[in-house]
Amino acid sequence: MRMYDLITKKKHNEALTDAEIEYMIDGYVKGDIPDYQMSSMLMAIWFNGMNDHEITELTKIMAKSGDMIDLSAIAGKKVDKHSTGGVGDKTTLIVAPIVAACGGKVAKMSGRGLGHTGGTVDKLESIPGYRTVLDRKKFFDTVNKCGVSLIGQSGNLAPADKKLYALRDVTATVDSIPLIASSIMSKKLAAGSDCILLDVKTGSGAFMKTLDDSIKLAQTMVNIGEGAGRRTVALITDMDTPLGYGIGNSIEVMESMDVLKGHGPADLTEVSLQLASNMLYLVGKGTPEECRKMAEKSIEDGTAFETFCTMVRAQGGDDSVLRDYDKFQKAPYTYDIVAEEGGYIEKQNAEEIGEVSVVLGAGRETKDSAIDFSAGIILHKKYGDKVEKGEALATLYTSKETARKEAERMYREATKIGPNAPKKEPLVYARVEKDKVEKY
Ligand code: URA
Repeated sequence: MRMYDLITKKKHNEALTDAEIEYMIDGYVKGDIPDYQMSSMLMAIWFNGMNDHEITELTKIMAKSGDMIDLSAIAGKKVDKHSTGGVGDKTTLIVAPIVAACGGKVAKMSGRGLGHTGGTVDKLESIPGYRTVLDRKKFFDTVNKCGVSLIGQSGNLAPADKKLYALRDVTATVDSIPLIASSIMSKKLAAGSDCILLDVKTGSGAFMKTLDDSIKLAQTMVNIGEGAGRRTVALITDMDTPLGYGIGNSIEVMESMDVLKGHGPADLTEVSLQLASNMLYLVGKGTPEECRKMAEKSIEDGTAFETFCTMVRAQGGDDSVLRDYDKFQKAPYTYDIVAEEGGYIEKQNAEEIGEVSVVLGAGRETKDSAIDFSAGIILHKKYGDKVEKGEALATLYTSKETARKEAERMYREATKIGPNAPKKEPLVYARVEKDKVEKY
């Protein structure tokens, strides 16, 4: 077999065989196939796509390129969750303890943030003492004891994806449905849970900017999961505007705890409840309606919040900060951005606001950049809100005295105030299950 011939096939829009996909991925991971040939293949896939069988095979081979985690030491059905990434998206911190409080098991490995989107591991590390690196035994013991453990990706999980993603990032081939679906699902299959809930974001802050493309991506990933014997459901949720009011690591932990204590923002609470209900449905706790009631009850009776605190203590963290937010480290500089005119917020571009948080120090510009846990933004006005001239639109938090001017300029550019109240957009657009798409 020669990589040259496989590139030629894909260039002419022909399907690759299982053996050819295996040859290509194994050869690339081992270093026998050079970056320039793989780049050419990625671009051919970007233009011509792959059929369902090719995508499933590619995903399985990428998953098997490293460790396949065996979670059988954890009793009960395990459910994983994945978000395609967003600004202010802190739902893992909320849904994981809700599901655990209702009897599901969540053994979850999360990633760090890069660019305008935050990562769960960075948010968790803003809790003093919290360890995101646990050995396998401690990880399993924590899930058995608390129902949930949230840690960073460890071991050699889907190394083929790591190498391919780095190449896609510099060859303009990230935004391809077969490549995104195989990348995400290879890691989910390797991570070992029985069921997978996917949160596919749609809108300005997401990879997929249109609802049709988001549904196509969701269907592709659901087919891969079900084809590999994992029960899989996807929700398509809005990422045109940031989720909730807080952006930044400790800021997002505090807002997540507000939701668990029953007084979080309405949009974040609603999306979290829908995600959690679907995770409980996947592990067989009842109908979606029954699962929703269970999830709501776990917030009302405090068990979801206490479950999160128990996990934090089990992983070395100081849970007193979750009860008294004043104990979190504070950013030395805070600035309000005030409205220069009255009207309605007609635009609040999630991606651009995510970039503001990076300038303030909350995110990474390169994968080795340090994170300022206290930096970020609290929005006071969101998409659709009425605002008077002189009212605060947002407060910026930073440790960089010089960041204010650029951050404020960018924030104003990301926000548009106009005379008319804009149309309300749904928070959840659709639900995708095997052979079924429900649009809301
Ligand atoms: N997230 C991933 O893990 N992979 C992609 O390709 C895109 C988003």
